[in-house]
Amino acid sequence: MNSSANEKIIAIDGPAGSGKSTIAKALAKRLNLEYLDTGAMYRAVAFLSLQQSEETRDDQRVLEVAEEMDFNFTDGICVVNGHDVTKEIRSSEVTETVSAVAAMPEVRKEMVKRQRIWVEERGGGVVEGRDIGSVVFPQAKVKVYLTASEEIRAERRIGQEESVDTLGVADSIRKRDEADKGRSTSPLVRSEGAVELDTSLMGVEETVEEILGLFRWN
Ligand code: DC
Repeated sequence: MNSSANEKIIAIDGPAGSGKSTIAKALAKRLNLEYLDTGAMYRAVAFLSLQQSEETRDDQRVLEVAEEMDFNFTDGICVVNGHDVTKEIRSSEVTETVSAVAAMPEVRKEMVKRQRIWVEERGGGVVEGRDIGSVVFPQAKVKVYLTASEEIRAERRIGQEESVDTLGVADSIRKRDEADKGRSTSPLVRSEGAVELDTSLMGVEETVEEILGLFRWN
């Protein structure tokens, strides 16, 4: 990838509900770039895998599903194999199974390859996930690691997902964080050079302004 594309990669990582998607979207708008929600890619694989019959749903089949998947993400709309699944990939069934899918090294390899192509084709972009600054684009000039308190993260997820059970959502987030941080391949970490921002008490505009003020943009 040429160095000017590297200048335009903004890597945003952090746990569930830390504000990554909202901030990535707002930041992309300000910088006139596109944004990619890489969690949506793992969710899409989990969603398609759940549609396979239980007898054939082994790791090999999940990998095939990932490799065959036609994935398109534009302006927050997620189209998979020709169907708009933006809502379906946020179902509690997908949320419960996605960490296991995201822990599979071969699935990650395929997704990382696609994420790099996505950025290459656009000459940059705002990319959010768990391993963006550490594994996918360690060369990114702008790396942000977002955090927020457990309570705030649960509240935010309630707005995004289909569940309205606060305790259940908090528990599901805790389990997913443990799985994402504890897996052996590309665990969630604050990558070298990433600036950590606690967004618990920060609004969207405030966070975007803070990030814009932290880095050199030319
Ligand atoms: O951000 P999210 O909750 O939609 O992510 C869904 C799952 O995918 C979550 O368990 C973490 C995982 N994920 C990952 O392992 N690597 C990424 N780059 C993005 C998400």
